[in-house]
Amino acid sequence: MKKRIALLPGDGIGPEVLEAAVDVLKSVAEHYQHQFEFEYGLIGGVALDEAGVPLPKETVDTCKAADAILLGAVGGPKWDQHPSELRPEKGLLSIRKQLDLFANLRPVKVFESLASASPLKKEYIEGVDFVIVRELTGGLYFGKPSKQYVNQDGSQEVVDTLFYKKTEMERVIREAFRMAKARKGKVTSVDKANVLESSKLWRKTAEEIADEFPNVELHHMLVDNAAMQLIHAPAQFDIIVTENMFGDILSDEASMLTGSLGMLPSASLSSSGLHLYEPIHGSAPDIAGQNIANPLAAILSAAMMLRNSFGLEAEAQAVEHAVDQVLQSGKRTKDLAKDASVCSTKSMTEAVKAALADDHAISDIMSAYV
Ligand code: IPM
Ligand code: MN
Repeated sequence: MKKRIALLPGDGIGPEVLEAAVDVLKSVAEHYQHQFEFEYGLIGGVALDEAGVPLPKETVDTCKAADAILLGAVGGPKWDQHPSELRPEKGLLSIRKQLDLFANLRPVKVFESLASASPLKKEYIEGVDFVIVRELTGGLYFGKPSKQYVNQDGSQEVVDTLFYKKTEMERVIREAFRMAKARKGKVTSVDKANVLESSKLWRKTAEEIADEFPNVELHHMLVDNAAMQLIHAPAQFDIIVTENMFGDILSDEASMLTGSLGMLPSASLSSSGLHLYEPIHGSAPDIAGQNIANPLAAILSAAMMLRNSFGLEAEAQAVEHAVDQVLQSGKRTKDLAKDASVCSTKSMTEAVKAALADDHAISDIMSAYV
């Protein structure tokens, strides 16, 4: 199979973890006889520094010419004082909007061997396996007006707008139901329908979509309760679907169930078929360039790409299995390690590649005997 992959390293640890994912993808290409072509693009703070804008047009063109996009992370204190239009984050928001990446899937699965890395007791996280489906191109992130102003009397006011079209709610909720149908058949729709108009329409829309899926159960949950339930009884969830801002907050919370924010991959899906994959963690400027960041969220994002964009299920599973093997062997980057035996980003990546190669050698031997 021949595929073009657009790579957007971004800022902070973005380039390091993306490099790790690319290394693993190259191994996959070698073992399974695929051809992956990589094309780099600027986004975020580096794009501001080099091109004066957080998302240059060439980057969008590179993405549009690709079969899938892999992104590192954006942002850092260097650009903190920039006006919102010229912040690195704007690059990420713009690419999501321009490519209409409306459904952000954030799977939360606890690797057995990491159970002790979670701040929760083992019995709480047993059986945790759910996906947060976060709406990604609407809500507070994009509503207008969004500005601060000073009145004539000198008093200051500010407004952000939570705006949604019903069609935007429908498409992401439908995606959530489709996924639930192929899993445990349960959707938890998270809202704040006791206060917000947008949430009232969200709830009604979820009810309507539920009628299209008779075999999927729909539950509604208020967002404050959902935040509590994620800690209290996280194994109850199968698919959580929610609007942009709630999804942002709940997914960072949920990541800690797995032991570290450095473990969670994500896929942002569009209806055009061009999807973007990125770790859910940020650019972590405090540890950038030190070769200590956890590359697993980026590597697992690459696995999601193999599955979702290229239909390469066996290859995706091989990468996930390799990650599992490496964790079982006790290897830990700093974010996961409780003791002194900490490994580097590069050594973690090499270990995943080695596990992938071992696995492949074994399956070659097996197939020779079949
Ligand atoms: C995420 C990030 C982004 C978001 C930031 C960097 C704009 O936190 O992908 O979750 O809020 O969506
Ligand atoms: Mn976030």
